[in-house]
Amino acid sequence: MQPLRRKTRLFSETMKHAGRKGNNLSIFVVVFSIFLFGCFMYNEDVKSIAEFPFSWPKSQEMQEESSNQNDPFQETNKNSVLMNSRTVVEPGEESSGITQEPVNLKSIVLKEDEQRIELPVNEEDDEEVELPPESCDLFNGDWVFDNVSYPIYEEDECEFLTAQVTCMRNGRKDSLYQNWRWQPRDCNLPKFKARLLLEKLRGKRLMFVGDSLNRNQWESMVCLVQSVVPPGRKSLKKTGSLSVFTIEDYNTTVEFYWAPFLVESNSDDPNMHSILNRIIMPESIKKHGKNWKNVDYLIFNTYIWWMNTFAMKVLRGSFDEGATEYEEIPRPVAYGRVLKTWSEWVDKNVDPTRTSVFFMSMSPLHIKSLDWENPDGIKCAKETTPILNTSMPLSVGTDRRLFVIAANVTRHMKVPVYFLNVTTLSEYRKDAHTSVYTIRQGKMLNDEQKADPANFADCIHWCLPGLPDTWNEFLYTRIISRS
Ligand SMILES: *[C@@H]1O[C@H](CO)[C@@H](O)[C@H](O)[C@H]1NC(C)=O
Ligand SMILES: *[C@@H]1O[C@H](CO)[C@@H](O)[C@H](O)[C@H]1NC(C)=O
Ligand SMILES: *[C@@H]1O[C@H](CO)[C@@H](O)[C@H](O)[C@H]1NC(C)=O
Ligand SMILES: *[C@@H]1O[C@H](CO)[C@@H](O)[C@H](O)[C@H]1NC(C)=O
Ligand SMILES: *[C@@H]1O[C@H](CO)[C@@H](O)[C@H](O)[C@H]1NC(C)=O
Repeated sequence: MQPLRRKTRLFSETMKHAGRKGNNLSIFVVVFSIFLFGCFMYNEDVKSIAEFPFSWPKSQEMQEESSNQNDPFQETNKNSVLMNSRTVVEPGEESSGITQEPVNLKSIVLKEDEQRIELPVNEEDDEEVELPPESCDLFNGDWVFDNVSYPIYEEDECEFLTAQVTCMRNGRKDSLYQNWRWQPRDCNLPKFKARLLLEKLRGKRLMFVGDSLNRNQWESMVCLVQSVVPPGRKSLKKTGSLSVFTIEDYNTTVEFYWAPFLVESNSDDPNMHSILNRIIMPESIKKHGKNWKNVDYLIFNTYIWWMNTFAMKVLRGSFDEGATEYEEIPRPVAYGRVLKTWSEWVDKNVDPTRTSVFFMSMSPLHIKSLDWENPDGIKCAKETTPILNTSMPLSVGTDRRLFVIAANVTRHMKVPVYFLNVTTLSEYRKDAHTSVYTIRQGKMLNDEQKADPANFADCIHWCLPGLPDTWNEFLYTRIISRS
């Protein structure tokens, strides 16, 4: 039976939002293009382009690098061997996770030169977008090979990608990991249209809050929307814990806020957080929360930072008062306390008539190839295809206790929270991690390290384009359906 579908016409939507008549629009586009071209010529001087906040200051880059040097990689590795790898992660995550590469200015200049000005006129905008019925479970389905529609953008076309995730540029040879489409069992995901999304986000702020997996997803979202924004009309700026991607013509921001435990912790420094001895204050969230106010779309996550020890260290007292003593409590208990604090903050501070709240379920790891019955595998390093037999029971060591807590907490809140159940579908994607095609401690892995995936493969983060694009398609679907 054909599922019920609501339809919306993007073009008429655009018209409605822009408040213009059709022929006026095309005139506007032409005039605007000429204007932009003029701006471009005016700005051609490299110096003025360099003033766009594409890159982070050198000093910060150095600081990030030096902060990584104390990363206790050896020690943590030892720990993970001692402990059960199914529930304890070797936390290489921060080492590879924190460094945000400054964007290569030269390539941007070249890009601007090549691209000239391609502007809003797009035939596709007239196509209908079919929305799935709200009752359809989008997270139940299969991965389908589709090299016609995927990837949605090319790695080379998004200058905002950091070296952490540009797997092809970093030497990965197989590219099929970019060609998988998530097909829900009972309906279809709507085709991704950056302009439609940007219309919905006009004058609004969208913010990811959490750890480096959420930053992975933020980078994906930036790339998904940036392709339709001309050069010079978009910029990226990092200030402390907050990274803001601004699209001027839409007065829209796509932001990322670093708070790996959501609550206050000793790992909150956006640059120097390679701390082995992680300590949290489970009832303390205001300091971060004040940065989340007046945001229209809030997307939270927290998981990976919980995974390097079985017990969680909870501070007695406050960091501000110099407290250093802590008690250790079981991971799920601490996770429950943190999500209680978080949910109370949301219920108290979020106006659901303005703001939509999302919670990403945990992003899984692939560190034991026997989990998917590959005796010749080395972590995720040799994997080039997803697990396609979805009737095979699969366990890759995700701490499902935390999943249950998050699913339950988000169901019982005053403010409705959309729980993005991406865990299982991501568990099938053993092929999609950055593996050895990434950076560690701020530097690209060298050939020797690349040849040693057992020690150096990152099976936590994901290549882009790649899996996090699909997570964002779920977000996209919800956003365009609800507004
Ligand atoms: C999440 O999705 C999986 C399939 O991907 C499904 O088996 C599971 O029941 C879902 N869980 C929740 C809480 O929706
Ligand atoms: C897509 O995949 C098919 C089957 O593997 C292949 O024949 C075709 O050349 C591919 N097309 C592109 C554009 O990569
Ligand atoms: C831009 O958006 C912000 C909210 O993100 C709003 O406060 C402001 O008024 C908008 N500015 C314009 C010129 O529309
Ligand atoms: C999928 O897995 C199930 C359960 O392990 C097995 O019975 C079935 O034969 C597998 N199907 C394929 C096509 O491999
Ligand atoms: C689910 O959450 C509610 C409210 O937060 C709580 O009262 C209940 O005990 C929880 N149930 C489970 C199974 O965790």
